[in-house]
Amino acid sequence: MAAAVSTPFSIPMLMILFITLVYQAYAQIPQPTDRETTYVFYLQDITRGPNATVAAVAGIKGRNWNFNTFGSVFVVDDPVTMGPSPGSTMVGRAQGLLVVSSRDGAYVNVVLSIVFNSWQFNGSTLELQGINRQNDNVRTVSVVSGSGQFRFARGYATLQTVAYDPPTARSTVRFTITLRT
Ligand SMILES: *[C@@H]1O[C@H](CO)[C@@H](O)[C@H](O)[C@H]1NC(C)=O
Ligand SMILES: *[C@@H]1O[C@H](CO)[C@@H](O)[C@H](O)[C@H]1NC(C)=O
Repeated sequence: MAAAVSTPFSIPMLMILFITLVYQAYAQIPQPTDRETTYVFYLQDITRGPNATVAAVAGIKGRNWNFNTFGSVFVVDDPVTMGPSPGSTMVGRAQGLLVVSSRDGAYVNVVLSIVFNSWQFNGSTLELQGINRQNDNVRTVSVVSGSGQFRFARGYATLQTVAYDPPTARSTVRFTITLRT
């Protein structure tokens, strides 16, 4: 008669050992702790006329202070809306500075606060900073911080001009903002 194979482990003990090993292996895989959230807003920009939302305030003496001239500094106060239409629900304003920062006039340094004044983020801000490569279809700037509900925010924003009407100097820029929270 063959002796029964003996093991010091009972079946339940083996199962517990197996589960423990699987759990330990899983625990060593880095788990994503950050959650990405994407928001889409539209900036409504008017570059001239009585209702202009962008104004040249400084530049190199003797040169035209425009978007293609190195050294031109603009102050901005653009409505930010939910949809692409200028009449769509306003959620806040994009306020800050644009500086033509490359000598060939192609790059603009952007320092903008999105100041929410309605909707779910009323009172909060997002702080955007970076280089706007004006000739690129899609531009990217950083989201460096925020306040209120966006404290410690970080991420990036892609900018794409979705409408431009030369006679009225109006343009609409889509901001797709991806944050890690
Ligand atoms: C400027 O805005 C006012 C008030 O919204 C409006 O009545 C006027 O038509 C606008 N002017 C131009 C040139 O768009
Ligand atoms: C946004 O907040 C301000 C200041 O707290 C308040 O006066 C205003 O009514 C709020 N607006 C909306 C649309 O909730």
